[in-house]
Amino acid sequence: MFDRAAFANVFKPVEEAESLPPWCYTSQDFYDLEVKNLFMRVWNFFGHVDQVANPGDYITIDFVGIPLIIVRGEDGEIRAFANSCRHRGTPVADGSGNCRAFVCPYHGWVFRLDGALHSCPGMEKTTGFDKEANSLIPLRLETFGCFMFINFDNDAESLIDYLGDFPEIMGSYNLDNLRLVRKLEHDVPCNWKVHIENAMEEYHLPMVHQATLNPKDMEHSAAPTSENWLDIREHHDNHTRSLLMEDLEHELPHIPTLEGRAAGGTNYVSLNPSTMLGMTLDSVWYLELQPQGPHRTKVIHGALFPTETVARDDFEEKVQYYYKRWDTTLGEDNDISALQQRGLSSPFARSGRLSHLEPLVPELAQWWLNRILPEG
Ligand code: FES
Ligand SMILES: [Fe+2]
Repeated sequence: MFDRAAFANVFKPVEEAESLPPWCYTSQDFYDLEVKNLFMRVWNFFGHVDQVANPGDYITIDFVGIPLIIVRGEDGEIRAFANSCRHRGTPVADGSGNCRAFVCPYHGWVFRLDGALHSCPGMEKTTGFDKEANSLIPLRLETFGCFMFINFDNDAESLIDYLGDFPEIMGSYNLDNLRLVRKLEHDVPCNWKVHIENAMEEYHLPMVHQATLNPKDMEHSAAPTSENWLDIREHHDNHTRSLLMEDLEHELPHIPTLEGRAAGGTNYVSLNPSTMLGMTLDSVWYLELQPQGPHRTKVIHGALFPTETVARDDFEEKVQYYYKRWDTTLGEDNDISALQQRGLSSPFARSGRLSHLEPLVPELAQWWLNRILPEG
C-alpha cells in the first residue's frame, strides 16, 4: 500500500499524470502516516500574531490530534505548549481568551504563561517531586512577518530555510504591517488534501464559481512560476484592479509597497503542506487547514489588510463587500470539496487523469508523497 511503485503515475508531468489513489483521501492508515511523516516534521502554519496581540492572550488548537496552546507572555514573547497537564494529562486551557495563568480544571495545578509550574497543592508529600521539571512541554514556534508556525520536530530546519524564496518574493507585501481583521472557522467533511488541491487549481472556476467570480476577465497563468521555491508553489493571475471588487466604489486602497509580480495581480501561494495564501493588490487572505482525521478538516479563513487601510473611516463599510465575496466563494469551495469527498469514499472511485489547467495537483501530490512514503 505504501510502496512507491503504487504511485508511479502520480510522479509524472500533468499531461501524463493521474491523481492520487482515492484511499489516500479516506484511509485511516494513510492519514496516520501523514501525521507521523509530514505534520510532525514540517513548519505548520497557525495564522496571524494578532490572535495573541496582548500579554496573556491565548488560543487553543486541536491539530492532527494534538492539543496546543499559543500564548503571549508577560514579556511579550509568543510561545507554544502542548496543552496537556504535567500531572495526568488534562488540557489546561480551552477556547481562547486572556488569562494570567493556566489552571488545570482537574486537580488545580497552576502553570504560568511561560509554561512553568507555579503551584500544585497536595504534592508536598510526593517523594522527589521536582516542580522545575514539570513545566508545560514547550513546542518550537517561530514567526515570519505576521504569521506563526510550529514545528514538532526539534531537529527540523529553521522556519526561514523551510520557507525558501517566499520571504524574498513576497517581501513587498510588508507582512509585518498587515492586520488580521476577521477570522472564521468552518468544519468541512473532506480530507485536507481535497481542499488544498481546490485552492491551487483554477480549472474549477467556471463551474463552481460561475455566479460569483468572472473568470473570463482574468488572464490565468496556472503554471507554477517559481522553480526554485523548494516548499512553496504558487499560481498567479494578472490584473490591475482588486481581484475582490468588481465595483470601483467599494475598492480599498492598494498596498503601496508592492513590486514586481506582486504589483501585477494576485499570487496564490501554497505554504505547504496545508495553507493557501491569497495575496492580492489590496489585501491578503489565508486558508489554514487543520486536519481532523481522514474525512474532516477545519478550514480557517483569515482576512488581512494594511494598518493604514484598517484605520480609514470607510473601512468597516467597504470591507463588508470583501467579506461577502470571500464567504460566497469559500462556501462554494467547501461544498464542492465535501461533495468530492463523498465520491472519493466510494469503493468504485479510481485515480483520474488530469487537465493541463491543474498542474499543481500532481506537483502537490509529489511533494506530499516524497515526505509521507517510507524511504526506499
Ligand atoms: S490532571 Fe491537571 S492537575 Fe491533575
Ligand atoms: Fe474555488
